[in-house]
Amino acid sequence: MLEWLRSRRSVRTFSAEPVAKDVLERILEGAISAPSNTNRQPWRFTVVRAAAMRAQIVEAVSRKTAEIKEIVARSHHAAEYGDYGDFFHEPLAAAQVIVIPQYREYPDLIANLIASGGGDRTQFTTASSMQAELCSTSMAIMTLLLQAHAEGLGACMMAGPIVAKAEIQALLGIAEPWRMVGAIAIGHPAGDSPVRGRKPMDRVVHWIEEDNR
Ligand SMILES: Cc1cc2nc3c(=O)[nH]c(=O)nc-3n(C[C@H](O)[C@H](O)[C@H](O)COP(=O)(O)O)c2cc1C
Repeated sequence: MLEWLRSRRSVRTFSAEPVAKDVLERILEGAISAPSNTNRQPWRFTVVRAAAMRAQIVEAVSRKTAEIKEIVARSHHAAEYGDYGDFFHEPLAAAQVIVIPQYREYPDLIANLIASGGGDRTQFTTASSMQAELCSTSMAIMTLLLQAHAEGLGACMMAGPIVAKAEIQALLGIAEPWRMVGAIAIGHPAGDSPVRGRKPMDRVVHWIEEDNR
């Protein structure tokens, strides 16, 4: 399992081969198998296969990215930003499928129960303080990526397209209480995807053992 997890990459270049619908259905099955807060399953996924709609999404992201680039060009950070914005739309443009994951928030049950008992809900940290629905949807995105990997497809989770959040939500009819969480580019991989290193375990894991209390 560990070897297989390590073999997953964010894939940003794809061939023109379409992705079969039954494969996509399995990928979405993978997504909705994720755990969620009180099993609320606070997620939804819009799967864009139609080329014309994909093109409109790419166009919206490119336009917003260009706007940002123009503004940044006037700042002293222009060189640092460089072509970074291209990572916001290029994988989408190459993808055969774009999935837009969405989540919605629910009332914070425990906080409301505290309030109904006369308590001060601000004195307690409950599910909303950890954005439990967003966490659940992130898990669904990960299981989607893993199932895509298992199917031999390439995929890339992307925050970049959020620059065109309003435009994409309007194009796809996504309205409150639903909120888009980035975009996922999917397709048959073309070319090599770089291996991104990981921070060493001792920088990110803190052990509390019996003998170092
Ligand atoms: C929340 C999130 C947002 C990301 N946004 C982008 C993005 O906008 N464009 C992109 O090319 N990759 C994006 N990535 C992919 C990361 O760059 C990638 O996961 C990271 O570099 C590690 O590489 P690996 O997934 O191949 O191991 C994103 C990943 C996550 C989890």
